[in-house]
Amino acid sequence: MKVLVVGAGAREHAICDALNDDVELYTYISKKNPGISRMSTYTIGDEGEVDKVAEYAKDNNIELAVIGPESPLGEGIVDKLEEVGVKCVGPCKSAARIETDKSFMRNLFEKYNIPGSLTYKVFDNTKDLNEFLDSYDKEVVVKPVGLTGGKGVKIVGDHLKDNNEAKEYASEVIDNVMGGFAQVIIEERVIGEEYTIQAFCDGQHLAPMPAAQDHPHAFEGDQGAITGGMGSYSDKGGLLPFLSQEDYDASVKIMQEVVDAIAKEAKPYKGILYGQFMLSSDGPRLIEFNARFGDPEAMNVLPLMKTRMIDVCKAIADGNLDKVEFNNLASVCKYIVPDGYPDTEYAGEKIEVDEKAIEDLGAKVFYASVSEDDDGIKLTGSRALGIVAQGESISEAEKVAEKACEFVKGPVYHRSDVGTEELVQKRVNHMNEIKGL
Ligand code: GLY
Repeated sequence: MKVLVVGAGAREHAICDALNDDVELYTYISKKNPGISRMSTYTIGDEGEVDKVAEYAKDNNIELAVIGPESPLGEGIVDKLEEVGVKCVGPCKSAARIETDKSFMRNLFEKYNIPGSLTYKVFDNTKDLNEFLDSYDKEVVVKPVGLTGGKGVKIVGDHLKDNNEAKEYASEVIDNVMGGFAQVIIEERVIGEEYTIQAFCDGQHLAPMPAAQDHPHAFEGDQGAITGGMGSYSDKGGLLPFLSQEDYDASVKIMQEVVDAIAKEAKPYKGILYGQFMLSSDGPRLIEFNARFGDPEAMNVLPLMKTRMIDVCKAIADGNLDKVEFNNLASVCKYIVPDGYPDTEYAGEKIEVDEKAIEDLGAKVFYASVSEDDDGIKLTGSRALGIVAQGESISEAEKVAEKACEFVKGPVYHRSDVGTEELVQKRVNHMNEIKGL
């Protein structure tokens, strides 16, 4: 079967890896990825030019496409591909609004009385915004309504000092039409532990994946800027050390109710649904949905799949998705980034990746943002590659991943604390404190 994967990052490298043994793989990538290019017939082009991608797919008799990033989904890539007869793993433009329009997302919770939402308000003018924030005595989160490549959300107590700074930033969001909307969404700030649940979805049925926890802060001890995730872990059994079966099931139920609501408000949601939740003292609260796999969380779950990825993709496209099975192991992913990331001076510097030594340890390499020429692999300013290991416990997987990171040489950094017993225990203690245990 000819399958096209769209997207050039580590998430898409993991998708390609999960499909590679069973399909004839084509990729449409914005830049060369050493891992993806090696395993596929690749074309370099703008993934957001959806007409061109559809033309490419038609010309190459592609039967099924898997869309990695959110931005082409927001541009309607699935609608275009389906028009030329290509089945897709990814929602059409109207259903992708679950990520591309946060106001649409929060309205669904309200209209369909779905549990787990937050207090929120959408503003299109500074007067109402200021009046609201002057009278609101809790800390807030300011979010552009549309897509901002993960860089638009600002949290009081983290990026912003207080609700006055929130006012200033929220006005900027409206004035600059940030994310494509002259609107801003203000949400209550919820305290707890964040976690991710991703699910395959065929428009109606959900097949949830093991939960994972990302680490968005750049530096160890959860210090530094909130960046692209620096690493993530998942545990045996699909739960997390601070997440009970009851909390997991409640989160999946929220996702199912949202999928049912999307089918009524837009078109059936087909693809991957990513739920970012906060486990609060009141149970799971939905922070955000993404219409795609998480990055780095895709790297935790895809290598654990026992059911063949191509069978799952076909079932999503055909609307007959059943249970998806995963190997019962823990996993740890650590992102290797340029030193100083996110403000790095090392873009263009060469790195050495001893893939053989990493694989000999039982770990995997997924390339993200690097360039490759005759002289080897070079850093850009972004995350360079993910290293993933599995084990009988998070701690066992962590030790292998940590050892594997030693085989990447150059001006690079990774968070050595991701997945360590100490940091995982800190999460558990934090959750116990919040629950008053
Ligand atoms: N892990 C965060 C994201 O994929 O958006």
